[in-house]
Amino acid sequence: MNDLKKIALLTSGGDAPGMNAAVRAVVRASVYYNTEVFGIYEGYKGLIEGNIRQLSVRSVNNILGNGGTVLRSSRSPEFRTEEGRKKAYSELKSRGIDGLVVIGGDGSFAGAHIFSKEFGLQVAGIPATIDNDIAGTDYSIGYDTASNVVVSCIDKIRDTALSHNRLFFVEVMGRDTGFIALRSGIASGAICIMMPERKTSVEELVALLRKGYRNKKSSSIVVVAEGNENGGAYELAKSVREKYNDYETKVTILGHLQRGGDPTCFDRVIASEMGVGAVEGLLNGNSGFMTAYQCGKIHEEPLETSYTQKKQLNENLVKIAQILSI
Ligand code: F6P
Repeated sequence: MNDLKKIALLTSGGDAPGMNAAVRAVVRASVYYNTEVFGIYEGYKGLIEGNIRQLSVRSVNNILGNGGTVLRSSRSPEFRTEEGRKKAYSELKSRGIDGLVVIGGDGSFAGAHIFSKEFGLQVAGIPATIDNDIAGTDYSIGYDTASNVVVSCIDKIRDTALSHNRLFFVEVMGRDTGFIALRSGIASGAICIMMPERKTSVEELVALLRKGYRNKKSSSIVVVAEGNENGGAYELAKSVREKYNDYETKVTILGHLQRGGDPTCFDRVIASEMGVGAVEGLLNGNSGFMTAYQCGKIHEEPLETSYTQKKQLNENLVKIAQILSI
């Protein structure tokens, strides 16, 4: 182990259920290894403003099962500037902090990596975003919980859709990607999953709906990722209505419901593994890595992977969704 004495941690970008479990793990692992640990409040913005407090084992009591982030989060345009990062570094330097753990997504990691190279600071990333769009890791913290929230909402929608023979367009999060849509769409039996990565035209969608109706489907659910190219759920429902009206059509936007709630067991466990892994990696003298989950194991993946590569959809799941929706 190297001579790192003080570690700070922050949560950045959109909050994700399980972030608190990761915060707890970083704090407790640091204390376990006799390293002082500091919480930075409100992400990079708080770092620039010096909103930093030392944490103890007891500071993270009873947060493991809570959604959101006790450290709070932000998106900081100032940290994108060299000036902002200089201010941020002086806040760390004045406290003698030489290691930083960033819990967030690819944008937060890109910032952390530049920061680390500019000031010779050791950094580790812990992937956390409900979108699960971070290249290099199969799962990011929050994705499992958000997908489960979506599935439980669609199950409820299905009850009422069935009772009235209706077609529902359910919009889920995923600004640029369809990971939530694909997983929750399969788990909830959607007839079609509209995702930015797989363009499905309105004509193709209408053909699928007609076929389903002919095959005696009494209700249908179309899951739409918010970043879908033919528009979100309202727009899509309008375009479909103009061409097709066997079913009465309704729209539900799940929105920020998906970001809240208690993390699942899976998210709590990977967050715990990643938190300990990040601290151990830093104490082993490593830097510029994220704790990635691949094939059931946590390993150190270069931070660059997260922001220089685009994560691809699982093609097998795309195929399965098509096969099962007949
Ligand atoms: O957390 C990821 C994400 O939920 C995206 O899917 C969504 O577009 C975005 O964040 C919305 O975030 P905010 O409400 O913070 O702008």
